[in-house]
Amino acid sequence: MSNSGEAELLHTFKGIPFTTRSSPELLKSLDTFKAREDDVLLVSYPKSGTHWLAGIITKLYMTQVTVTSPIEFGDISRLEELNKLSSKRIIPTHLDYNMLPPNFKNKKCKMIYISRNPKDTAVSMFHYYRDNPNLPTVDSWTAFFDLFLKGNVVCGSWFDHFLSWAEHEDEKNILFLFYEDMKKDLPKVVKKIALFLSLNVNDNDIQDICKKSSFSEMKNDTEKENSDPNHTVCALTSNRKLIFRKGAVGDWKNYFTPKQNIRFQEIFTEKMKVSKM
Ligand code: A3P
Repeated sequence: MSNSGEAELLHTFKGIPFTTRSSPELLKSLDTFKAREDDVLLVSYPKSGTHWLAGIITKLYMTQVTVTSPIEFGDISRLEELNKLSSKRIIPTHLDYNMLPPNFKNKKCKMIYISRNPKDTAVSMFHYYRDNPNLPTVDSWTAFFDLFLKGNVVCGSWFDHFLSWAEHEDEKNILFLFYEDMKKDLPKVVKKIALFLSLNVNDNDIQDICKKSSFSEMKNDTEKENSDPNHTVCALTSNRKLIFRKGAVGDWKNYFTPKQNIRFQEIFTEKMKVSKM
């Protein structure tokens, strides 16, 4: 990572790197956040398909819902803004389980965690680092690969993030989804989400939602600005155009060297052995 004048883009809170778009004061006061029983949390490590899932969820609700910007985004005034919202709140977050405001856990709010093959996540994040002025520049894929494996990237280690949530996989108020399952059979996953959120949606609606949520439709909508280009569910940018890059499974094969793949695999196997998932 080049460091000329870029150190101020990131700061560390409880050992995790955040951009300065998440103020330390806000992060400190998250513990006092008042959740509502009907809040729905949309949780992810960055670049896992958060916007895709957010698009689907908003289409599933026939009633007025607001997808807020991420809870950890902004300064201390955020909490007040969220408090004032009168409609049902869908709240995105990249926080790990330990940093989540405790009130969401106590009130057993519904939470959906979307995860993606970390190799594809790493490649997607590499591009995000390159294109996003809110993130430090990276010199090369090789340099980024090392940062990612060490967890020296925004939101910290993919492994720690995933494991902090996976420990709670048996809790009924948390639904785990995988990007790859959505690519394989989107209607099946959309039905699962509808069931989890107790929403009555018929097969025609499901087909329609899937059509409107395809990568090309969502990318087009953003380019034609059919959706607010300044509203993202990612705390790292407010530019939606940076989100829709390739939308593919297995892009990592175009970047990982055989040696990097072996190293990644070894670390993956070691770290993930504590998880049943
Ligand atoms: P790529 O960079 O691999 O293309 P997030 O929303 O968490 O930031 O994740 C962004 C990733 O999800 C990007 O991956 C983006 O292209 C992909 N994505 C967004 N919408 C998608 C869709 N409708 N279908 C498939 N992938 C999508």
